Amino acid sequence: MTRTEIKSLLQTDPQEQDVLVKGWVRTFRANRFIALNDGSTLNNLQVVVDFEQYDESLLRRITTSAALSVRGKLVPSQGSGQAVEVLAEEIEVLGDADPAVYPIQPKKHSLEFLREKAHLRMRTNTFGAVFRVRHALAFAIHQYFHDRGFFYLHTPIITGSDAEGAGEMFRVSTLPMGDPPRTEAGEIDWKEDFFGKETNLTVSGQLEAEVGAMSLGKVYTFGPTFRAENSNTTRHLAEFWMIEPEMAFYDIHDNMDLAEDFLREIIRFALTHCPDDLQYLHDRIAQEEKNLPQAQRRPMPLLDTLQFILDNGFARITYTEAIERLQRSKPYKKGKFQYPVEWGRDLQSEHERYLVEKDFQTPVIVTGYPKDIKAFYMKLNDDNKTVAAMDILFPGIGEVVGGSQREERLDVLQARMAEMEVPEHDLWWYLELRKFGTAPHAGFGLGFERIIQFVTGMTNIRDVIAFPRFPKSAEF
Ligand code: 4AD
Ligand code: MG
Repeated sequence: MTRTEIKSLLQTDPQEQDVLVKGWVRTFRANRFIALNDGSTLNNLQVVVDFEQYDESLLRRITTSAALSVRGKLVPSQGSGQAVEVLAEEIEVLGDADPAVYPIQPKKHSLEFLREKAHLRMRTNTFGAVFRVRHALAFAIHQYFHDRGFFYLHTPIITGSDAEGAGEMFRVSTLPMGDPPRTEAGEIDWKEDFFGKETNLTVSGQLEAEVGAMSLGKVYTFGPTFRAENSNTTRHLAEFWMIEPEMAFYDIHDNMDLAEDFLREIIRFALTHCPDDLQYLHDRIAQEEKNLPQAQRRPMPLLDTLQFILDNGFARITYTEAIERLQRSKPYKKGKFQYPVEWGRDLQSEHERYLVEKDFQTPVIVTGYPKDIKAFYMKLNDDNKTVAAMDILFPGIGEVVGGSQREERLDVLQARMAEMEVPEHDLWWYLELRKFGTAPHAGFGLGFERIIQFVTGMTNIRDVIAFPRFPKSAEF
């Protein structure tokens, strides 16, 4: 007999047919009702046990998280919680879960506690929902680009360059750490290293994606990226996934239009394909917020926030306007901002959130940042002060997307690299792109975990990636 997954059983017309199901016990009530879950859906299957037919010793093994195989009949449910249930005829315990030591009991655990049990937390409703939504978003992203003629480009994970020029890289080396080979000058001799040069884990696939765009026209990457920044926040990971589309012949406006449409469409996909999971997360947050003071609650419930994005355009302002608006704001005048607001300084999370949550109350795209606070590859505007950068700011999250039109003029790019002390020798190939058939092009990077945070309403980024990597933590 073949096994049927619970998602499909729950949609099957019950006609007392024989079925075989397998899954993990969520709860076992009154020695009679097993709530069984196999991960295919948020919803459990109710298995009804006639306890007089089974040995006491078997019944005692039906505990939370034990793995079961159940053969029985699919019938209309007598109870109110579900349309169908299975009357068990044969129960086999595939794997016990001793309740005396199993760490996750059917009570409420904190997200912090569950983070330490990352190998088991996916069996909870919350994490099951988050990871099914994560899958749906990944799928939506590939579909979005595929449908629009983009090619998926796999860019390298080990590179010799610092794409962002920020120096936040993890070194990749096979040299002995205690006693590395030295040059005559006494410096570490990287020529002796595995690749014959200094290498690191990539911080972004953008520079290689530009190569793709300048030949295939439209490409995107979707891969892991690594940042050795010591940021212990709810929005930073040391290993995160990034989606980076890159398009030839696009300017900054085309880039913004694409990014806005893209974000809206993948959110729409999640709403269409994950209604149960999102409803669960929506209710969970509403429940959680009951105990919070009004000021700490979300401005809008989760599903309303997602719908709002679909129904409303993003605001678009320049960095200079953003600074002016911030300087006119109440929190600024009352000295409530922790960081200074001044033309030339980067916007901090508190400023971004003010613009999005208080001022515009919609996502905001900020363009035209000062050149000194952005990466070397961004196109210099005619004012010689700002670059054609764009950041997209979302409620509750801040920056979800960073992008720009790229500097396609060789001489300007070289001057910017010199100014920002980005060595040319590692990037000779990047410069050659500007020598041979250069053309305007643009692209952006979406932080995958940040958009998952937004869609699921999870407040900590460590709860939307299966095994988070952050300072002092690389368990699992
Ligand atoms: O703004 P960033 O650094 O831009 C780039 O890397 C460009 N090369 C992208 C491009 O134009 N192709 O990063 C892009 C996005 C951010 O907006 C943010 O959402 C996310 O990546 N991000 C992080 N997410 C989690 N943890 C971190 N430490 C992140 N750093 C950036
Ligand atoms: Mg950025």
